[in-house]
Formats: sequence, C-alpha cells, structure tokens
Amino acid sequence: MRQKIVAGNWKMNTTPAEGVALASELAKRAAEIPSDVKLIVAPPFTHLTSVQAAIAGTKIELSSQNCALQPKGAYTGEVSAAMVAGTGAAWVILGHSERREYFCEDNAMLLEKIHQAFACGLKVIYCMGESLEQRESGVLWDFLKSQITEVLYNLDSLKDVVVAYEPIWAIGTGKTASNEQAQEVHAFIRKTVAEKFGAEAADELTILYGGSCKPSNAKELFACPDIDGGLIGGASLKADDFLAIAKSY
Ligand code: 13P
Repeated sequence: MRQKIVAGNWKMNTTPAEGVALASELAKRAAEIPSDVKLIVAPPFTHLTSVQAAIAGTKIELSSQNCALQPKGAYTGEVSAAMVAGTGAAWVILGHSERREYFCEDNAMLLEKIHQAFACGLKVIYCMGESLEQRESGVLWDFLKSQITEVLYNLDSLKDVVVAYEPIWAIGTGKTASNEQAQEVHAFIRKTVAEKFGAEAADELTILYGGSCKPSNAKELFACPDIDGGLIGGASLKADDFLAIAKSY
C-alpha cells in the first residue's frame, strides 16, 4: 500500500550516546507524528540495538543503512541482513548513492542484497538517482531506467520495497530538485514500474524524495502527486526539523 513515509538516514553521524539521545527525543515527542505518517530512523550499525530500545513502544520504526551481500561467514567487518533483523530493525536502506560511489556497489550486488534482506524479513528502501553530469549529458532517463530494470525488474514483487529518488547533485548540497524535476522523475519511476508489474502495483509503490529535503521545502515536495514522502539526511539529525518534515503533508 502507498504509504506516507519520512525516513531519517543518519549516515556516519552520531556516537551511540548521541544517537540514543536523538532517538529518545523523537520517542518522547512521538505523539507529534501525524497518525498516517510512518517515521523511520536509520542510525549506524553500532547503535541499532540501543536506538531500538529507545523507540520501543512508539510507532517509530528502525532501519539500517546497509547490509552485507553474503548471509554469514568470513567477511571481516560486514554486517549481515540476519544481524540487522536481529536488532529489531524492520528496514534496510540499499543502493544509496554514497554506497554506489564510494563502495563500488552496482546493480547486480544490490539485487543480491535485496534478496538477502527479504530472506531475513526486512523491507527495503531502494535508492536511485543520477549525477549532475548524467542529467546534463542526455543519459538521464536511460540511466534511471537501468537502476530499475537491472534491480527491481528481477524481483517477484515490490510489496516490501519503497523507492527513494535521490538526485546525487541535491544530496547534502542545499540544492533541492525543483518540485517539477522531482515529480517528473517520480512519475517516470512509477510508469517504468508499471510496465513490468502492472498499473496497480505501480500505483501502490511508495516513492520518497531525498536530497536537501528540509522543513522549508518538504510541504511543496510532498504535495506532488507521485511524491509520497522523504528520505532525509542532514535535517533528520535535529528532532525539531525531522518532526517538522513529518508534519509537512
Ligand atoms: P541530505 O538530506 O543531507 O541532502 O541527504 C539526503 C540523503 O542522502 C538521504 O539518504
């Protein structure tokens, strides 16, 4: 079902103590979250368990920012989907542009990671989006399509997938995609998904926008017909801003 979701990707920010403090403040103020909005927090692996304890009993849900490609074994430093699920997390973010760019994750790997996540009962926030160069050089639509066809088209169903469109040029730059630019891509994602999974499944798909989304621009973005919510970086590190975004529908 299409959902209103505001998810906070903390990236490599907060110590465990800072993360618990932020989660505790969100938990204390959970009554401020509109009843039809799902709030998700994605702290670093090290504090998934303690953040889960801080939000327990509230409607706030937990996500990790990644999971390993392999189910278990001799992969020093990796964290498996089963380990993530064991913390109480319901979600995993996969395919973030920072993972694709700095850690060489490609579509084939991401498809496998999604299979790992599903096998452990996790739902997936699948990120996609183009660089400025791709946007300006005329390959925008082919590139975005490849991020859909090479990954999502290989799944049996999208019922446990939320897509996040995050134009790389808008991430952490203060430069937000215009409503028109974001809506145009969201509609394209929905149309491309419909070509494989049918109009009903496409209509039910939740598609989030990410990239310098903040209290001052969330309302107009969320008012676009194909934008169902946001994946928030910087502004999710401040409870006031994050909750203000959740109230922006
Ligand atoms: P910012 O909101 O800091 O631009 O980050 C967006 C993002 O990458 C969320 O995953």
